Amino acid sequence: MKDLILISEENKELTGFALGLLITYADFTYGTIEELYVAPPFRKLGIASALIKEMIERLRTLGAESVIILTNDKNKSAIKLYNKLGFKRSTYAYIRRLQN
Ligand SMILES: CC(C)(COP(=O)(O)OP(=O)(O)OC[C@H]1O[C@@H](n2cnc3c(N)ncnc32)[C@H](O)[C@@H]1OP(=O)(O)O)[C@@H](O)C(=O)NCCC(=O)NCCS
Repeated sequence: MKDLILISEENKELTGFALGLLITYADFTYGTIEELYVAPPFRKLGIASALIKEMIERLRTLGAESVIILTNDKNKSAIKLYNKLGFKRSTYAYIRRLQN
């Protein structure tokens, strides 16, 4: 497993970041984007799109065959963003809640 951190900044101020992982499982290598955040004053300027595109290219270069991003069904802005960048919804996750 390898981690990748990308940041965006303007005038030395942090405006956003993305955290990715490269994972090899058996003979399948894939990437995940675990965290993605853009500071509110800098949203809707294309920063998240640029961070994801750059992350995808770095993961691809390292051998990833797919990239997975998880998000909440209610996060409409993230869902729109991911759809726009070519991600397709997949429903294979099983979750067991451990409290209540
Ligand atoms: C979701 C988030 C990362 C988007 O960052 P951003 O830099 O504003 O995104 P972009 O400017 O690259 O937006 C690209 C596209 O995403 C969609 N989008 C982004 N924000 C949106 C919003 N508030 N409402 C609707 N669509 C939105 C649009 O399709 C947009 O394209 P457009 O500007 O041509 O309409 C940002 O709002 C954020 O940090 N939110 C809180 C953390 C979060 O939810 N992270 C994702 C967790 S899975």
